[in-house]
Amino acid sequence: MTILHDHDHPHDTRGSAMTYLTEERSVDTVLGRNDPTADTRLLEVMSSLVEHLHQFAKDVALTPREWEEAISFLTRSGQLCSEERQEFILLSDVLGLSMLVDALNHRRPSGATESTVLGPFYVEGAPNREMAEDICLDGKGDSCLFRGRVLDLTGRPIEGACLDVWSDNAEGYYDVQQPHVQPKWNNRGRFSTGDDGTYAFRGIKPTSYPVPDDGPVGQLLRRLGRHPYRPAHMHFMLSAPGFQKLVTHTFVAGDPYLASDAVFGVKPSLIAHYEKADGGEGTHQWLCEFDFVLVPADQGGQDSAPPTSD
Ligand code: BEZ
Ligand code: FE
Repeated sequence: MTILHDHDHPHDTRGSAMTYLTEERSVDTVLGRNDPTADTRLLEVMSSLVEHLHQFAKDVALTPREWEEAISFLTRSGQLCSEERQEFILLSDVLGLSMLVDALNHRRPSGATESTVLGPFYVEGAPNREMAEDICLDGKGDSCLFRGRVLDLTGRPIEGACLDVWSDNAEGYYDVQQPHVQPKWNNRGRFSTGDDGTYAFRGIKPTSYPVPDDGPVGQLLRRLGRHPYRPAHMHFMLSAPGFQKLVTHTFVAGDPYLASDAVFGVKPSLIAHYEKADGGEGTHQWLCEFDFVLVPADQGGQDSAPPTSD
């Protein structure tokens, strides 16, 4: 691709070969308008975007009607966005872009717990709770004890690690989706590990639920013959001084949607087993044990070199 910059000839009203957009030269003409002294990364990203976008339109021979439909889709998506609703992130999620960006930027060393998508239902400032306290405030669902350890890559326990956890309720809704129905902070809490790196809290065995599908993204899924469900999962955000933050879930083994998560968030290493509790320890019906392994802050896992292609 030759990029001939228009501003090299600011007073030439006839322009150069690249001045006027044609099917053949569309990319070069558009990129030629950019100021080469603009931000380098912005130029790199936008140049690649224009190249791919034009190639996409050419590949599918995009019609004016389809173009209008796409504009209408994006307009409706934007109109639905608010403090509570982010249709564009949902679009990124169902197209697999969110998980791809996560994969590109979190190449963790082997042995470290893998990350997955944050999702729209995280809320900062959940209450700090005592070890083993119950986060389920609406009394619905199968009670479950979650416990395990937070470790470093050598297997040493991490003391004072913070686990910020959240899940949907037994009916498949997060508290923020039903502010007048569920108690505030239902199924959310922050826990801190002891000197042996252990954590424990009570909640419910999560249930699978559909991503918000009453907007343009839901319509798209239906037209593509895709369901909107996420397999049941518990969300975790782990942080500890000297370690990289980890945003992840544990998924419920056996969930029917594990292999078809609407947002592609499942990784086999994150599937957790739920055992029927024997009733000996407290009143919970299920037990889910899972250890997390964090990466030191100074270790190149977060942005390590891309895997070599063979
Ligand atoms: C979630 O797990 O909370 C979620 C993630 C992506 C889209 C919708 C929901
Ligand atoms: Fe979720």
